[in-house]
Amino acid sequence: MSKGKYYLTTPIYYVNAAPHIGHAYTTVAAETIARVKRMEGYDVVLTTGTDEHGTKVERAATAQGKTPGEFVDLISNEFRTQWQKLDIRIDRFQRTTNPEHGKLVNRLFEACKANGYIYKGTYTGLYAVVSESFVNDAKPGDIDPETGKPYEELTEENYFFKLSAFTHRLLEFYEQNPDFVGPEIRRNEVLAFVKQGLQDLSITRTSIKWGIPVESDPAHVFYVWFDALTTYISAIFGENRWPADLHLIGKEILRFHAVYWPAFLMAAGWPLPKRVFAHGWLLFENDKMSKSRGNIVRPTPIAEVMGVDALRYFLLREIVFGQDGSFSFDALVGRYNADLANGLGNLASRTLNMVSQYREGVIPTAEGDAGIRETATKQAALALSAYDSFDFSHALEHTWNIISGVDKFIVERAPWKLAKDQSEEAQRKLDETLYTAAEALRVVCVLASPVLPHTTQAIWTQLGNESPLETEQTESLVWGARPPERIGNISAVFPRLDPKPTIQRMQELEEAEKRRQAELLGKPAESSAPAESSAPAAVIDAPTISIDDFSKVDLRVGEVKSAENVKGADKLLHLRVDIGEAEPRTIVAGIALAYKPDQLIGRKVVIVANLQPRKLRGLTSQGMIVAASLEGGAPVLAGFHEDVPVGARLK
Ligand code: ME8
Ligand code: MG
Repeated sequence: MSKGKYYLTTPIYYVNAAPHIGHAYTTVAAETIARVKRMEGYDVVLTTGTDEHGTKVERAATAQGKTPGEFVDLISNEFRTQWQKLDIRIDRFQRTTNPEHGKLVNRLFEACKANGYIYKGTYTGLYAVVSESFVNDAKPGDIDPETGKPYEELTEENYFFKLSAFTHRLLEFYEQNPDFVGPEIRRNEVLAFVKQGLQDLSITRTSIKWGIPVESDPAHVFYVWFDALTTYISAIFGENRWPADLHLIGKEILRFHAVYWPAFLMAAGWPLPKRVFAHGWLLFENDKMSKSRGNIVRPTPIAEVMGVDALRYFLLREIVFGQDGSFSFDALVGRYNADLANGLGNLASRTLNMVSQYREGVIPTAEGDAGIRETATKQAALALSAYDSFDFSHALEHTWNIISGVDKFIVERAPWKLAKDQSEEAQRKLDETLYTAAEALRVVCVLASPVLPHTTQAIWTQLGNESPLETEQTESLVWGARPPERIGNISAVFPRLDPKPTIQRMQELEEAEKRRQAELLGKPAESSAPAESSAPAAVIDAPTISIDDFSKVDLRVGEVKSAENVKGADKLLHLRVDIGEAEPRTIVAGIALAYKPDQLIGRKVVIVANLQPRKLRGLTSQGMIVAASLEGGAPVLAGFHEDVPVGARLK
């Protein structure tokens, strides 16, 4: 019986990057919520999709000799395939280039306009000529890295949305709907932002070609957010599912979802979503993982080596949902071995093997141990309520409390001893022990299934259940809800992994995937392509030196902390590089034509640390960055495939 509908969404992802583990994070979390809600009896639809308009996309397409349409098809498909490879069940996949979506964006616009919340005005901003776009976060005088000259000021005619008219109504709305924004810390941010007063928003452009035309004034196309947010409705248009129960997003796009979006809908007189929940960032090497920083990890290599469930488990168990958290391969394998191999996997195999060995594969009928029954009942209730607040890590912690309780119980009961004792009392105790372990394992399967759908299904089948685990409802969490069964064929889940070769294998696959994605996006992969495309190095006429000569050169591993263009010097970048000393070194490097400042932040490089300081454009360069210099080509920075600590010496 359905409890009603539950509609949830992930952001629709930009197609200017291939999918990475940050996108997988939100999507896995959303799909887990979808599974929890299905277990609770809701008729659930989960939407994701791709955000495909704008100048950046148009430019990326042109650079590859493709039309924007061809390019977005390719990348959108990459996202779709990614979710398939990760076995993530998506119910609707919406693209902003879908013509039906375009019609709905126009309807929203006309509804806002009819109610007096849209007007024509002029927009003045700093404009980047090469990329033909306004730069939102630049100040007058800032240098455009693509031209080496200051950004130009440009004025164009736009349609504006009267956001300023909604300050009061929004505050009233947040007041009346205290759960609208979560978690609490994000709600407070939104309140503080809106309380400052809101400014009107420009929502169309005439300077952009690749976008949805405003039907009533086709010189204009809709600008990103007005277009993108509307996918949440167009994805399920005609299904009677709006308003959404939940928009799950990353915290950097909170304002658009918690302020702009409800204001657009209020203006149109359309219903508002019920909840916006913003989670934290997945960090890698201490930085937000992002395409522009280049510090990206892809999910498919991990899934290929460790299984999809291991990835899901790590993301939802390691990081408290809502907070930032770090991804690392060490922690991933560590969690796997501790919680999955030694925890759930071990409990499943010992329980099933004992049933097979001592009771010829039939789980005995018994009442079960009262203490374990109580633990399972209590922890299951706590886990469910944690799931309901999207507190996945605690939901799993409660679930694992059952596992550790049963592990202890089995050791105390020592069934291997009971099995040798033919007395009635010993055999009754053995029955009870086996039933208790199997029943607790069954409850754990149901409880962990939203996070570990594939492996819990495997254990579920081995426990002798024929109906799919997916269709179990929360009633199944009740102790004794199902009669014991004859178990199926036993096969181990979560075999222990040797960390070093496992990590190495993932990193190899990761390199291959990185190259594949770079090709797809039409960019040469940093590590290989530039060198391949240039002429072989000429014979180098350098004198032979002794090892002592070489050891005079202090080569060190550094990490770029900041990077900016040097005013008036097209080729130079001003870097601050941490080489393990108290202060990062200032380094002025002639690499600006090859690298944008953003690309370098967080990157490990090689620094000549004992070179005499040199003054360049008013800056004192305290070292040199090592790069391959290519005849007639751009320099290519030296780097490492393995992770290396900052400050390590090269010798
Ligand atoms: O913002 N940690 O798309 P986008 C956690 N098209 N989550 C991350 C992450 C990280 N390091 N990196 C990405 C857009 N995400 C717009 C959205 S919605 C109407 C339009 C996830 O491709 C997270 O959900 O930049 C974040 O909000 C989203 O990807 C941003 O994806
Ligand atoms: Mg982004």
